[in-house]
Amino acid sequence: MSPLDAAQPDPRLTTDSERNETQMNPTAQAVPETAVSPEPTPAARSRIEPIYVLEGVTKSYRMQGRTLTPLTGVDISIMPGEFATIQGPTGGGKSTLLQLLGALDRPSSGVLRLDGIDLAAARDGVLTRMRAAQIGFVFQSFNLIPTLTANENVNVALEGRGMTASTRTERVAEALAKVGLADRGGHRPSELSGGQQQRVAIARAIVAGPKVLLADEPTGNLDESMRDEILELLEGLNREGLTIVAVTHDSAVAKRAHRRLRLDGGRLHEVRR
Ligand SMILES: Nc1ncnc2c1ncn2[C@@H]1O[C@H](COP(=O)(O)OP(=O)(O)OP(=O)(O)O)[C@@H](O)[C@H]1O
Ligand SMILES: [Mg+2]
Repeated sequence: MSPLDAAQPDPRLTTDSERNETQMNPTAQAVPETAVSPEPTPAARSRIEPIYVLEGVTKSYRMQGRTLTPLTGVDISIMPGEFATIQGPTGGGKSTLLQLLGALDRPSSGVLRLDGIDLAAARDGVLTRMRAAQIGFVFQSFNLIPTLTANENVNVALEGRGMTASTRTERVAEALAKVGLADRGGHRPSELSGGQQQRVAIARAIVAGPKVLLADEPTGNLDESMRDEILELLEGLNREGLTIVAVTHDSAVAKRAHRRLRLDGGRLHEVRR
């Protein structure tokens, strides 16, 4: 995915992004420094807006004269700082839903608001900027460029943002350090383990400071110990405030999330514990 033209942000997006900073850290913004309790006041809490609101979201594809409708009516709100997982049968529309959440595609009908902006109705340029400013993606197959080093792979996500080379180098180093790979920046994907490759992919996804991380089967290609490492890394990022929505077939992964969702029959349901 290209960061595209985020260097010249839409004024509306800038405003919303600033508002979202408040949502991500309501305590710091809403409570005066002198306050005794670090907890947001009830009034402040009521001002926290969902990061995603989906109402009656459908998605249909037309293929060879047939219409396929993997999503028939998805209703959900996701709050800033949540870690939600989505399970469901294969072919059930999980990746389709993640693509909609990631502004890579639009719903066929319904409302899908990210940070207050309806992605179903927004212009293409707005979707592009939302992707660049708000969203990081992680995939099952890592999707690293094999000929580039870890540093270079992460650096790709900062292209076109109007940063100096030295700022980019610094940001890349910080992101790789955050995923525990400070000493592997010069390695190509083939010189890294599967778990390390996924760490590089996560560094690439977070280097531009997104609000949301969308992960499609992030541990699907990893053995159990690597899966746990990646899970712990995701949990750490979530504790720092990153909202995470992860599709998974693995119940062990789903059980670790705050919120378990299941996509079945084209609709999303809460899974009770
Ligand atoms: N671009 C597309 N064009 C046409 N049909 C599509 C497209 N993308 C997905 N589909 C169809 O939509 C349905 C849902 O696919 P999707 O990839 O979202 O399922 P999934 O739940 O992610 O499955 P899996 O668990 O196997 O990854 C499938 O029947 C698929 O063939
Ligand atoms: Mg899928």
